Amino acid sequence: MAASRPNLSLDGLIAELQALSQITEAEPPVVTRVVFSEADRRARTYVKGLCAAAGLTVSEDAIGNTFARWHGSEPELAPVGTGSHIDAIPNAGLYDGCVGVLGGLEAIRVLQQLGYKPRRSIELVIFTAEEPTRFGIGCLGSRMMANVLTTEQALALRDKDGRGLEELRTQAGFKGTLESVALAPGRFEQFIELHIEQGPLLEQESLDIGLVTHIAAPASLRIAIEGEGGHAGATLMSGRKDALAAAAELILALESAAKSTGAIDTVATVGVCEVFPGAVNSIPSRVRLETDIRDTDGARRDQVLDALRAACNNVGTRRGVTITTELVNADPPAICDPKILAALEVSAIESDKSYKRMVSRAYHDSLFMARVAPVAMLFIPCRGGVSHRPDEYASPEWIGSGVHVLARTLAQLAG
Ligand code: GLV
Ligand code: MN
Ligand code: MN
Repeated sequence: MAASRPNLSLDGLIAELQALSQITEAEPPVVTRVVFSEADRRARTYVKGLCAAAGLTVSEDAIGNTFARWHGSEPELAPVGTGSHIDAIPNAGLYDGCVGVLGGLEAIRVLQQLGYKPRRSIELVIFTAEEPTRFGIGCLGSRMMANVLTTEQALALRDKDGRGLEELRTQAGFKGTLESVALAPGRFEQFIELHIEQGPLLEQESLDIGLVTHIAAPASLRIAIEGEGGHAGATLMSGRKDALAAAAELILALESAAKSTGAIDTVATVGVCEVFPGAVNSIPSRVRLETDIRDTDGARRDQVLDALRAACNNVGTRRGVTITTELVNADPPAICDPKILAALEVSAIESDKSYKRMVSRAYHDSLFMARVAPVAMLFIPCRGGVSHRPDEYASPEWIGSGVHVLARTLAQLAG
């Protein structure tokens, strides 16, 4: 790299993050930006404008994955990629994903200001729908880029109002075939994602940077329970087929299966529980659960999944309710590339930043990019480990450290 101190415009970057957070379906400072919503579309326009202003060549694929390329002196070489997502779950904050997108852009601008000319192109990627809010499956954009989701599966995706990916992406103005989203082999030379930790460890240990070695394997099972409704007063307890009481058993069975592995990395959550008809004086006849199970060890994660399925059989038979399950996804963990990790380590040392190696228990688009390119992630702290909440916070200093180390690493890798 030409100079040893990248000239970060931290105030500008923080102002951009703040401006992006104002583009929300909720009342600021609450950020809700569900993919293909009006807010998502406006946020895309804002970020693409910033990329164009930085002289990057912007293109989009058929589902809105966005690529902003800084051309290298050997443009025929596969680029080094960086980026993350700008969609946000309901009631979120402003750093998850956006730090990796606008921080990645800032890293490029810093290198431009230093007069650095990359040999390989450097390409910022803004992934469509990292969050599972709309379609129930996480990392939709990167999953399709890695060709993990077939076109048939993608076409079958529906949101809670029954609207499909095809309808929503065309309405949002994205053209081309879904098949064309899959990346050609060798499309990226390497990929690095900057992200907030979403856990407390870096802050607790007063560290600037986390070098992510593994990304945990996520799985999701949807469960539908069909019981028998009726009058809450007039129906006696014996012989009831209460779908919510059955769901309660399953929720506790899942918790106990996750705890029983004894491994700190096994986690399981029931984040959605829809009860029908949802009236206080009516026995629930139908319940829909969405579960989220993760582990850094894929086989151990699958044991928990199996235990949950066994509990479904058992509870269904014992309570006389019908329980059906649908596996939404069960992805393997990702291992980050030792060469990129070494480059990140050199950058952290040269930048005087403290760091440690760690695992990511949250998933990220890098989980899928790892299937098509060597990847690594760098984390920065976030206050109290809080994320997916409006009070999510990363200090300008933490963000600056992340961008600084990212910029140096991109320069090392792009040559
Ligand atoms: C990503 O948002 C996750 O849930 O890990
Ligand atoms: Mn998230
Ligand atoms: Mn994220």
